[in-house]
Amino acid sequence: MSAYEKLLSNNKAWARQQNEIDPGFFKRLAGQQEPDFLWIGCSDSRVPADKITGTDPGEIFVHRNIANLVVNTDINLLSVLQYAVEVLKVKHVIVCGHYGCGGIKAAMTQHHFGIINQWIKNIKDIYRLHREEIDSLLTEKDRVNRLTELNVQEQIFNLAKTSIIQSAWKHEQRPHLHGWVYGLEDGIIKPVCEMEAGSAMDPIYEYDNL
Ligand code: CO
Repeated sequence: MSAYEKLLSNNKAWARQQNEIDPGFFKRLAGQQEPDFLWIGCSDSRVPADKITGTDPGEIFVHRNIANLVVNTDINLLSVLQYAVEVLKVKHVIVCGHYGCGGIKAAMTQHHFGIINQWIKNIKDIYRLHREEIDSLLTEKDRVNRLTELNVQEQIFNLAKTSIIQSAWKHEQRPHLHGWVYGLEDGIIKPVCEMEAGSAMDPIYEYDNL
């Protein structure tokens, strides 16, 4: 059996087992999804949203990209965000980075990577904002890990800057925003920042006519 065929046979076994545990499982989920969470995570194969949070199909709406960025011109992310907030009415949006992130590491080098340059330039901007703090750390690992945390914090701010989030905060007092970082070495998620619905933000980014 080739590697990809193994995936298909795993899938059959999983579906069979799921049906045995809960015979109504697929029928129920096929009817609707009511996730409480939107997860914005890194594409890294070692950080699967549902596995590391012990959640089942139907519980988390997921968007993943390199280094879990919220970029205000990314129509893909914005579409996912709008749908999750306005239609699914999620209560929490989680941005989850991870220590040892290749995207963060790449952004801290001067290497030319091709088209990915455009994407990770967003991370370089965050590095520039916090250069003094990051460069004061002694090891490369510490510097990468700190930028990973600051990146998550910045993406939480980027969410709060959107009219999608501000409108939901104003009219429905949700969703709460959570910035987390997952540890590849111990499997533990560390919460690094939080913005409750309605949190104060820099007025420069605040819309007053939502
Ligand atoms: Co990553």
